Amino acid sequence: MIVMKEFLFSILLIFSISICSASTSSSKYNNLRLNLPVLSFDDGYNHLFGDNNLVTHKDGKSVHLSLDQRTGSGFVSQDLYLHGFFSASIKLPADYTAGVVVAFYMSNGDIFERNHDELDFEFLGNIRGKDWRIQTNVYGNGSTKVGREERYGLWFDPSEDFHQYSILWTRTHIIFYVDDIAIREVARSEAMGGDFPSKPMSLYATIWDGSTWATNGGKYKVSYKYAPYVAQFSDLVLHGCTVDPIELSSVNCDTTASIDLDIRPTLSSDQRADMMNFRKKYMMYSYCYDHTRYLSPPTECVVDSREAERLRRFDPITFGKGPLSHRGRRHRRNRSG
Ligand SMILES: *[C@@H]1O[C@H](CO)[C@@H](O)[C@H](O)[C@H]1NC(C)=O
Repeated sequence: MIVMKEFLFSILLIFSISICSASTSSSKYNNLRLNLPVLSFDDGYNHLFGDNNLVTHKDGKSVHLSLDQRTGSGFVSQDLYLHGFFSASIKLPADYTAGVVVAFYMSNGDIFERNHDELDFEFLGNIRGKDWRIQTNVYGNGSTKVGREERYGLWFDPSEDFHQYSILWTRTHIIFYVDDIAIREVARSEAMGGDFPSKPMSLYATIWDGSTWATNGGKYKVSYKYAPYVAQFSDLVLHGCTVDPIELSSVNCDTTASIDLDIRPTLSSDQRADMMNFRKKYMMYSYCYDHTRYLSPPTECVVDSREAERLRRFDPITFGKGPLSHRGRRHRRNRSG
């Protein structure tokens, strides 16, 4: 009988522990978008290009961007932002989408032509039956030669439903999220120097013909037989510090919402574990491991030998060669000499 009781008790214990951990794992991300206002299109954005290929919905908050033989289309935030949380729920076009690029990004390339900053989500279409690829990129202060691309698969079909894609940008950190899972973190470091984006940017969303590079390096072009390609955007969140476009030093922060941009954002250990899992499973390209591009990885890269090995098995040409430690040493010698 005692044994039975103990048995029941331990079952109960296991049960309650699993309930607890289930509830923490669902609540651990909840505050990310909590209380953040969704702006209507007219209040937050302007039409950028593509005339009738941009359609706003009756609710005023959802937007369709389409690409056809004539043109792609896009919109841009009315304000410039210095730091903030930027998010959109996006549903990508389905079926044959090779060569099609959908981008959700921040940039100040129109103001700072020679030393611009940029934070990108780019969605690269694919041939029928093959998944979309997603790419993140970070440019800081004009170093367009130093691309900081990463490319991933996803754990869902992004053309089947809406998913949330977000960029958190503070003085010290940049975090890319997909559905509240952090997928990439860039921490400001000495090594990055002026390459950490630190000038005001606008938010953009576009769809365009990327035939020359988007799918297998340009092997598969956009086929207008399947046009129009329609990307749907909703739940657009712009939350941060707006900047006067004339007097760039005049910064006005929205303090009403839940994200405090002055506090260094840190991922919880759960979030970090999820991020590592995602990257282990789905990352298929990282500039830090691309030996065809960088003889030695840019200085901010923290090279993980297991990651290097995994990517090397996946693509021996791009990620081949080694050993990395020699390259690091040569790099340092070059820099000092
Ligand atoms: C950014 O680039 C400009 C022009 O090249 C340079 O003058 C400036 O010092 C750079 N800023 C940082 C933070 O490195």
